[in-house]
Amino acid sequence: MDAPFIYGRIAIFDNYTDREKELLLLKNNFLNLINTVIISPRRWGKTSLVNKVSEMLKKEHHKEIIVCNLDIFKCRSEEQFYKAYSNAILKASLSTWEKFITGSKKYLGRFAPNVSFSDTTQTYELSFGIDLKEPNLSLDEILDLPQTLANDTGKKIIVCIDEFQNIKEYADSLAFQRTLRAHWQTHSKVCYCLYGSKRHLLMDIFNNYEMPFYKFGDILFLQKIGRADWVQFIGKRFAATGKHISEELSGQIADTMQNHPYYTQQYSQQVWLRTEKECSEAILQTALVSLIDQLSLLFTNVIDSLTPKQINFLLAIVAGEDSFSSAEVLKKYDLGTSANIKNLKKATLEKDLIDILPNNQIVIQDPAFEYWLKNYYITTK
Ligand SMILES: Nc1ncnc2c1ncn2[C@@H]1O[C@H](COP(=O)(O)OP(=O)(O)OP(=O)(O)O)[C@@H](O)[C@H]1O
Ligand SMILES: [Mg+2]
Repeated sequence: MDAPFIYGRIAIFDNYTDREKELLLLKNNFLNLINTVIISPRRWGKTSLVNKVSEMLKKEHHKEIIVCNLDIFKCRSEEQFYKAYSNAILKASLSTWEKFITGSKKYLGRFAPNVSFSDTTQTYELSFGIDLKEPNLSLDEILDLPQTLANDTGKKIIVCIDEFQNIKEYADSLAFQRTLRAHWQTHSKVCYCLYGSKRHLLMDIFNNYEMPFYKFGDILFLQKIGRADWVQFIGKRFAATGKHISEELSGQIADTMQNHPYYTQQYSQQVWLRTEKECSEAILQTALVSLIDQLSLLFTNVIDSLTPKQINFLLAIVAGEDSFSSAEVLKKYDLGTSANIKNLKKATLEKDLIDILPNNQIVIQDPAFEYWLKNYYITTK
């Protein structure tokens, strides 16, 4: 029997729950061509959400809309971005391999594109060379590809780009961002949905008024999935496989993982695997110990990569402290001077270990890491 929970992969079909409001908002934004940026801490479900909306639109609105999904995680340079971008847009818009070949010549002929076919994966790929150092280089055809295809097909095009923060790594990222924005804002039949997994980098791209993408579109701060939805979801998934879990115990799973989508699914899976027919409190306990054991090595590696003061800072957060610059807290946790707090915040934020909420409260991003720090690290230190 397949386990009924999923984590580490995109949540689809029966593995997907809630997000009704966000689904509707995103769908309406896409239909009305409103650019949208999605920001959330890691593994809260951005990719799953965009995929779900994309699938809905591909099914319900394929006559008037083309959805193009692109992940630029592996694109380490502008050139790679341009290739991935062209490939994704042409593939989404031109349904067959023959049309793809003709299309690549028609739209990108100046770049002498070459289309190769892989027998093993049964996929085709467009490649071309561009010399970014060439002073008079114009990449207008590539950047305007969605708008051109929208005009030619008579359909609206939605371009969804995952792991968008990667563009910050490119050689001259600021100039690149300016170029993208300059082109994209002229596209009248295209909408862009940009999102990714590094919250602080995305905030810097989209929420900083000195940056080209400031006020590019709606910013959707994705929330966690609510406790009541988890209780219902976990109960249903158990029932679908002939097992039973009480609402109280399902709620306990969600509470322990602070409703974190990835971990709630992972913990539920561990509990489900140990349940023969009826789940119990004891099963919840053994499953949690086993899960944290599995994660321990990972967390120990995180700790090993930190300075003693950074570790102390995390411990102060875990202990519920909030006035980090007060003499008492600085001394109690050996955090150095109050000026050092700024550096500690920055370093741990950049490592995606903490989050600063809109009310300035500092929290540990990963609920399992927090649990481990509290219940394992402190006691065995
Ligand atoms: N709507 C949902 N219903 C149930 N589980 C979900 C949902 N969305 C996400 N999850 C769970 O969270 C996990 C992570 O989801 P996803 O990869 O979509 O998040 P993400 O925000 O894109 O993560 P990352 O920041 O790492 O890119 C999924 O594998 C699944 O276990
Ligand atoms: Mg993702």
